[in-house]
Amino acid sequence: MIYITGDVHGLMDIEKVNILAKVPIVEKINYLIVLGDFGACFYGHPKPGTNWYHSLERNGLLDEDKRILNIWKSFPWTTLFIDGNHENHDILDSLPIEEWNGGKVHFLADNVIHLMRGQVFNIEGKTFFTMGGAESTDKWCRIPGLSWWAREMPSKKEYEEAIDNLKKYDFKVDYVLTHCAPEGWIARNSYYVYDRSDNELTHFFFHLLNDWKIEFKHWYFGHYHGDEDIQEFDRSGESRFHLRYRLVQELKE
Ligand SMILES: [Fe+2]
Repeated sequence: MIYITGDVHGLMDIEKVNILAKVPIVEKINYLIVLGDFGACFYGHPKPGTNWYHSLERNGLLDEDKRILNIWKSFPWTTLFIDGNHENHDILDSLPIEEWNGGKVHFLADNVIHLMRGQVFNIEGKTFFTMGGAESTDKWCRIPGLSWWAREMPSKKEYEEAIDNLKKYDFKVDYVLTHCAPEGWIARNSYYVYDRSDNELTHFFFHLLNDWKIEFKHWYFGHYHGDEDIQEFDRSGESRFHLRYRLVQELKE
């Protein structure tokens, strides 16, 4: 069984996951997918003597990343996450790249795996296209390298890799996993997702839909802090797009 949920933000929204760990069917859950803003790599390893080090020390947060990762390691399933905007991308980028189920990953632990951008994975007989990242709307009040990272947005190479990998699958996958949503496409139909994002990544997703005509059964995304199965007006109310935040559910067939 594969379960899926939205943003967790370190310890801020982890209670929904703690509850999942207590459900009777927990031993049947092989994977939990988190749709970005995972937050287990956030504070990093500041150098002693720096202001940032003292600030974390004062707030008891020096070992916070380790503490959060230990919680994830303790769950009986394997956690798979795509990155959101609120991750320490310097740390993610510094980890060794490994091959797992057909795509590139970073291992935070044996059972905590970062699914990298632009990959297609085969998991339990299903194919998943993954493309994390999003643009922070609050970057004006964040500090580059400490609480905001330019790498929240994909590189040119990651966009190219995404297209190259999707070509191998003829642009047909079972699931699309992203942090933000396609530009405009969702906005027409969703209560939560407006047209305000307007950036390279949301436009990339728009082109995947309209120009590359990507085929999929379900597209899951997070970022907008809501839960909604979006009815597509131009497809007779079909729900293929799913915004997830608080809900923790089995992946739709
Ligand atoms: Fe978030």
